[in-house]
Parts: sequence; C-alpha cells; structure tokens
Amino acid sequence: MSNKLDLSKELIGRRALITGGSRGIGAAIAQRLLDAGAKVVVAARTPSNELPKGATFVAGDASAHEGVEVIATKALAALGGLDILVNNAGGGSAFLEGSWTIPDQAWHASIALNLFAAIRLTNAVLPALRASKAAAVVNISSAAATMPFGPFAHYGAAKAALNYYSRTLAMELAPSGIRVNVVSPGVIATPGSEKFAKTTPGFSSDDWLRNIPLGRIGATEDIAEVVALLVLRIPLMADSDSTFIADSIPAKSGHPALVS
Ligand SMILES: NC(=O)c1ccc[n+]([C@@H]2O[C@H](COP(=O)([O-])OP(=O)(O)OC[C@H]3O[C@@H](n4cnc5c(N)ncnc54)[C@H](OP(=O)(O)O)[C@@H]3O)[C@@H](O)[C@H]2O)c1
Repeated sequence: MSNKLDLSKELIGRRALITGGSRGIGAAIAQRLLDAGAKVVVAARTPSNELPKGATFVAGDASAHEGVEVIATKALAALGGLDILVNNAGGGSAFLEGSWTIPDQAWHASIALNLFAAIRLTNAVLPALRASKAAAVVNISSAAATMPFGPFAHYGAAKAALNYYSRTLAMELAPSGIRVNVVSPGVIATPGSEKFAKTTPGFSSDDWLRNIPLGRIGATEDIAEVVALLVLRIPLMADSDSTFIADSIPAKSGHPALVS
C-alpha cells in the first residue's frame, strides 16, 4: 500500500461558497474544490464563460450589503448548509500620482470590496459554518497588504485590514473548530491583472517580472492549491486527527503566495 496521501476526493460531501468565482483566482479555486469532490457555489455580479463546470452560479454584488444578503441566502439554499467559505472577490485600480490623489469614493469602494465584503458575508453565513463539522474560511488578501505603495494605498490598506480581521476571527472561532486563514498572492495571471497590466503604465508583465525572484508570474492554480490544502482536513501524522489551523504555514513569498 502506498504511504502517499490520496487527496483527490477529500472534499466529497463538503459544501463551498467562493466569491468572485466566475474567473481568475476564484474560478481556479472553485475548479480545485470541485475536483476534490466538493459541491460548489460561485458568486459574482455577472456570469462568465469561464464558469467552472459543475458549479452553481449566484449573482450578487459582494461589496454591497444587499448583495451579500442575496449571495448568502441563495448559496445556503443551493448547498443546504456550508463548510467552506472563500472570500475572494476583490481588486482595485492604481492612482499613479500618489496616495493623496486617491478620491474618497475610491477609498470607500476599495474598503467595501476588499474588506467589508468578507466581513459581511462571513457574518451572514456564520450560523451555517458553526453547524458544520469541518468548517474553514479562507480570505484572499494580497502581498500589497504588507508592501506600502502609494498608487495602491486604498487597496493595500483594505487588504491589511482584512489580514487583521482574519487573524482576530481565527482566534475567536478556533475554540469552535472553525479554521480561518489568509492567502496573500503576489502577481498572478488573471483577467483582472492582465487588464490592469495593459491599461496601467509601468505595470506590464515585463515590469512585474523584473521584481519577481522566481522569474515567473504566478498561475491561478498555484493559489487554488494552497487554498485546497488549507480547507482539507489532513491527518498530519498517522492515527492523528490534527489538521492545519490558522497561522500554520509561513510560506514566504518569492511569490506567488504568502499564507498566514
Ligand atoms: N491577480 C493578482 O495578481 C492578484 C494579486 C494579489 C491579490 N489578488 C486578489 O485575488 C482576488 C482575485 O483576483 P483576480 O485577479 O482573480 O480578479 P479578477 O480576474 O478581476 O476576477 C475578479 C472576480 O471577482 C468578481 N467580482 C469583482 N467585483 C465583485 C463584486 N463587487 N461582487 C461580486 N463579485 C465581484 C468578478 O466577477 P464580476 O466582475 O462579474 O463581479 C470575478 O469573478 C482578489 O481579491 C484580488 O485582490 C489578485
């Protein structure tokens, strides 16, 4: 018998909700969890032709209070409960002249999407997560959260707050057995980052590559694999039911992802 763990169907019977799962990193996470046997709902404002096969789509704006209510209600109805929540919807534009040129509206929008979306949705589905026997929350942050940079101040600050919130939540929910982790990608090739690279002077793929020690832009599957690892209940030792919990994997960035 092989002593290698076969994780291919580890998520059979688990129910997952992924925001921003219609393309990019979210779609790759959805696909990875589907491949492992999970039942998956993806939420975004509009369906796309990159929607992972087998996933159920729910339309809603994660940055708005009402949108979160719709996403939570429809996802819980479709799944009949919830074991895995991935707060992935996020993003932002650059203000190349510096942080002082970022208008209030852009700050509010960034905080609504990159911070409040995760807080509101987590709160809305928390009763369902508490009812799960193996609940896990993963919040997708960004390397920008720990790398101050004027053009992205509104984005990095919102993601830094997401990190703080997630760590707090991890400590609060740990006694209930609900694990909370943050994954902070570096540059990943997605429709969002590709559009950004094409439309923002100084942020082309070649510009990014000059600053990435690994010499390659990350793939969405790199992030999906990290998320899958965090939501699986992996026996770390034979005859043990210990699992990865919050703050367990200090995978330092040479890109593409930092986990905390
Ligand atoms: N790509 C990178 O290099 C990179 C690096 C670090 C961190 N990240 C983070 O990784 C996450 C995913 O990024 P990505 O590059 O994969 O993004 P992307 O390609 O732009 O896709 C974004 C996804 O989120 C959805 N979305 C956007 N705004 C939404 C809203 N208000 N409500 C609901 N859904 C919304 C989009 O669908 P709709 O537009 O139809 O709503 C889409 O499904 C984000 O949190 C981002 O900050 C990305």
